[in-house]
Amino acid sequence: MSDSATATTLLSAHVREEIDRWIARFPKGRQRSAVIAALHAAQHENHGHLTTDIMDAVASYLELPPIEVYEVAAFYSMFETKPVGRHSVSVCTNISCMLRGSDEILGHIERKLGIRVGESTPDGRIYLKREEECLAACCGAPMMMVDHVYHENLTPAKVDAVLDAVGRSES
Ligand code: FES
Repeated sequence: MSDSATATTLLSAHVREEIDRWIARFPKGRQRSAVIAALHAAQHENHGHLTTDIMDAVASYLELPPIEVYEVAAFYSMFETKPVGRHSVSVCTNISCMLRGSDEILGHIERKLGIRVGESTPDGRIYLKREEECLAACCGAPMMMVDHVYHENLTPAKVDAVLDAVGRSES
């Protein structure tokens, strides 16, 4: 199969349309500027993570060397290159949050979910993604981000309420 045929097979019509839309925003020959948007669309359709084949397909579609796509996927924390849980949880452990008990909050989450940072729950519901380096919500320390939503002034009880509700309406 040719590279362009692979791209057509691995990237849905919707993803290719999305990439085309972004390519059109930049001057001709500057399709490299569409890499982030392309990866975002491809990752979203692939249940939240990228594979090497998908990254290669994006590179092929954008007519770029694969390394230029791998670099972007490896650099930005919003891209995952392995399967992860459907909902991501990140706990800030920088100074303000640390002084307000983020270590205890993180420990509580790890014990509650039975996983460590960087792991997903066996049911695929939650991905305990990372310790964040300040998400600019220090006034609400300690805080965590769940699927891009901030939860502040955390206590173990508040964490329990938030995490117990995550993704419960899915099935
Ligand atoms: S230190 Fe946690 S939000 Fe700033």
